[in-house]
Amino acid sequence: MTTAPVTYGGSRRPPRGDYSIARPDYTCDQAWDRYAPQQHALYARLYARQQKLVGGRACDEFLQALAQLDMGAQIPRFEDVCERLGRATRWQIVAVPGLIPEDAFFRLLAHRRFPVTVWLRTPEEFDYIVEPDLFHDLFGHVPLLFNPVFADYMQAYGEGGLKAQRRNALELLARLYWYTVEFGLIDTAQGLRVYGAGILSSPGELTRALTDPSPLRVGFDLRRVLRTVYEIDDFQRIYFVIDGFNQLFEQTAQDFAPIYEQLLPLPPLPPDRMQPGDRRFGVNSTA
Ligand SMILES: [Fe+2]
Repeated sequence: MTTAPVTYGGSRRPPRGDYSIARPDYTCDQAWDRYAPQQHALYARLYARQQKLVGGRACDEFLQALAQLDMGAQIPRFEDVCERLGRATRWQIVAVPGLIPEDAFFRLLAHRRFPVTVWLRTPEEFDYIVEPDLFHDLFGHVPLLFNPVFADYMQAYGEGGLKAQRRNALELLARLYWYTVEFGLIDTAQGLRVYGAGILSSPGELTRALTDPSPLRVGFDLRRVLRTVYEIDDFQRIYFVIDGFNQLFEQTAQDFAPIYEQLLPLPPLPPDRMQPGDRRFGVNSTA
């Protein structure tokens, strides 16, 4: 296996990250000592801003883990995060030079290893970055890996990815990741909350996801999600809402093979239109 660079969403921009340092499984060393003081300071600023915004918006599971992690003062050493994560759910984080191929990604998840990008965005990208960087991966994804049910879901997703590759169904399965792990909402007794990392690590989307009336919010349904296309470089036009992490795990524990067979011939659904059977959610009155 070679470690060729990977670009985001078929983008023609040159890939970020140094892939020459990657091992055959695409992991690399974090090389923590090479972060400059300015990068630690930038990370701390990103973290502080986002930490303020997630209160009352992120789900409790995320907020509790984030508080315990207490990793906002500087870029953490991955090995320290690993130790705590390992004790909680037997997950690890591993350093990667940037985006990695789907095959390598699924393999890591299937072995309870979550890839975290080693590079941090530039100060010019403080408010918005298209591709995932260290801040997105750590702040957005790592806290929920402390939740046992979500942690098992992520492993099952990796295993499902390896199977989907053999059935030419990667495009369908990628939508599941997008609309849950990256942009998922969860219904709670206090109202809608966010659990998707793409929202949690983005100031603009976090303030919009729960209160802006323009995007659709629809109850999670596996087949509906697998058919719905998404955009990678704009705010989402639809969010899918789960009742709890158990629902997510249970609905995705079934064998996807017959579902792929049924859905592959069907046209994809646009993200901005209600469909028959959709359960619609309103916006939170306060957030
Ligand atoms: Fe992500």
